[in-house]
Amino acid sequence: MSSGARFQAQPQSVKLYDFHPPMEDFRSAVLQGLAQPQKALSAKFLYDKRGSELFDAICQLPEYYLTRTEMAILRAHTEDIARALNHRVLVELGSGSSQKIRILLQAAPQVHTYVGVDISRQHLQESCLALMQDFDGLETIALCADYTQPLPLDQVPELHQRPTLGFFPGSSIGNLEPADAVAFLKTVAGLGELIVGVDLKKSASLLEPAYDDAQGISAAFALNLLTRINRELGANFDLSQFTYQAHYNEAAGRIEMAIVSLADQGVAIGDAEISFTQGETLRTEYSYKYTVEEFQLLAMEAGFQPIEVWVDPDQHFSLHHLKHF
Ligand code: AVJ
Repeated sequence: MSSGARFQAQPQSVKLYDFHPPMEDFRSAVLQGLAQPQKALSAKFLYDKRGSELFDAICQLPEYYLTRTEMAILRAHTEDIARALNHRVLVELGSGSSQKIRILLQAAPQVHTYVGVDISRQHLQESCLALMQDFDGLETIALCADYTQPLPLDQVPELHQRPTLGFFPGSSIGNLEPADAVAFLKTVAGLGELIVGVDLKKSASLLEPAYDDAQGISAAFALNLLTRINRELGANFDLSQFTYQAHYNEAAGRIEMAIVSLADQGVAIGDAEISFTQGETLRTEYSYKYTVEEFQLLAMEAGFQPIEVWVDPDQHFSLHHLKHF
């Protein structure tokens, strides 16, 4: 760890491998998503600057048990997790909150290379630089890439011929439909070992408030998508005419998040005109929940073997150590 009082001899910079995809056509994705019988947009569009701030606020909510429970599991099992890490290169997928990785790095001082993977280049570089400054001697590499696409891991020389461990926290895998989650796991099979955070099935009375909190932050997070479309695509969504809902579909094992139209109304998006009926929904996200066994079966479909699983005493959240053979 740095000792605070020391001066850096020169400004440090993080080694960056930039595979940022060509700017996706947000406009065509929105028009296509809103033309479907069930209007739906990809969850990745929720994370503009304001959306990322609102998501960070969600992680602090009393109702949103996921973040603090996963951190408690990491702290409770640091020795086991450090053993799993061994001397592997630590590859973090979606290096959003760097708090979790810090727990791992503190527990495993033998790890000397960290690769952060994220689609948001600036956010990634900032969090990698902060880690490099706080963990003396840690070789820190930023890989800017969309991890929902096959990762260009073979383009990172620091990963060649070295054992790796992928860290995919936060139950981000829950945004994917199960078949897509299997496909995703197959694309990261080359990492060899994974630690994946997965939210567990539980009662709707605990789940629904986590996704529709008393302060309305979850609602603001979803509705910010309309503000983003207004700003970036010249649309005229009237935010007073929409509301937010989060429903636990128990049969499907997922929270379904949607924006709901409060009236029959038309919305202009540039030259295009989209109509909503009263009560019609625009799906913003799914958040799948699994039992430990269900997730282990899903991982096995992708060719992974469950090695170990850590769960909090209330059985709210799970952390899976998986190995690909
Ligand atoms: C980032 C996908 C893990 O599903 O819990 C939280 C997203 N959306 N509240 C989740 C989310 C609204 C979150 N993940």
